[in-house]
Amino acid sequence: MTPTPKSPRDSALVRAARRQSVPYTPVWFMRQAGRSLPEYRKVREGVGMLDSCRKPDLVAEITMQPVRRHGVDAAILFSDIVVPLAAVGVDLDIVPGVGPVVAQPFRTLADLERLPELTLEHLPYITEGVQLVLPELGDTPLIGFAGAPFTLASYLIEGGPSKNHERTKAMMHGDPQLWHQLCGRLAQISGATLRVQALAGASVVQLFDSWVGVLSRLDYDAFVQPHSAAALSAVADLDVPKIHFGTCTGELLASMGAAGADVVGVDFRTSLTDARARIGDQYAVQGNLDPALLFAPWPALEKVVRSIVAEGAQSSGHIFNLGHGVLPGTDPEVLTRVVELVHEASAH
Ligand code: CP3
Repeated sequence: MTPTPKSPRDSALVRAARRQSVPYTPVWFMRQAGRSLPEYRKVREGVGMLDSCRKPDLVAEITMQPVRRHGVDAAILFSDIVVPLAAVGVDLDIVPGVGPVVAQPFRTLADLERLPELTLEHLPYITEGVQLVLPELGDTPLIGFAGAPFTLASYLIEGGPSKNHERTKAMMHGDPQLWHQLCGRLAQISGATLRVQALAGASVVQLFDSWVGVLSRLDYDAFVQPHSAAALSAVADLDVPKIHFGTCTGELLASMGAAGADVVGVDFRTSLTDARARIGDQYAVQGNLDPALLFAPWPALEKVVRSIVAEGAQSSGHIFNLGHGVLPGTDPEVLTRVVELVHEASAH
């Protein structure tokens, strides 16, 4: 018998992350808080993205919105991967429809001076936001998160979103020493960000390396994995399972697990069965519905959801999620229906 949850630690999500038995497959969605929700658009009216992340009451409200509406099995703290960079003084903005834009891209050794060590004092609004939301969450676990060194480095070096990551790769191979120094600093910032949230009461953490799938496994292992491992090790002494996620990472899944994850995020391009075959039995998996399929007619979507739930149940430790974030035009009622279906299809 699985105990009825009395604290977030006994929740289906945390138990699945530890590959323990669960009463049903837990489900949450990356970017569940955001533009798909009218209540989100309403509270964000006239408040810039970075400013919203620095208002603890707004952070708590937006974090709760998808939990109230969809009945998901976890909340994720409302923030952004670039918030800690802005907190240590990097001049950047999050431009609607574009993403993070850095005023002066990082290219030389001198730029490292703009990346001081991140301490607890840099992120008071995160600590406060977590503390505000916890009582309302009750048994529902809160996921804290950070951007991984590679994905953060890409924004800093390219100056904004990039398709080819050419300057990033040029630095990686052309000036490996500078690359490793930059990623060393980013690993500290990323790890400290995870730690702030775990210390404040988050029950799980997720490291987002969204764009790392542009690398070969050889490059990942040499230039990225040690830094992501350092970031994850910042919470190794705390009792929080660690999820490690990226997109287009079919070739990298084993290395991403070996970086110190408990749960490997799988995007929709790789099946859960193939992912498990690649990473072995010691990890839980998270994923992997294609977010574009939320726009398909319900019977077609239902078939895919049921098949992912069944595939996930082949072995212990499956957290249902999308293969990437909720797209802004998604009908929120479809998300609620998917939550109900995952619960119903997996209940035993
Ligand atoms: O619900 C959640 O998932 C929690 C909140 C969250 C946001 N960003 C809020 C946000 C999380 C976990 C992130 C992480 C993040 N930010 C990632 C990793 C996840 C991923 O999607 O791969 C990345 C790469 C970023 C950088 C970033 N920030 C992008 C690409 C964008 C979108 C730009 C756009 O307008 O299309 C942002 C802005 C952002 N972060 C929004 C939200 C809700 C949209 C801004 C808005 O609503 O005005």
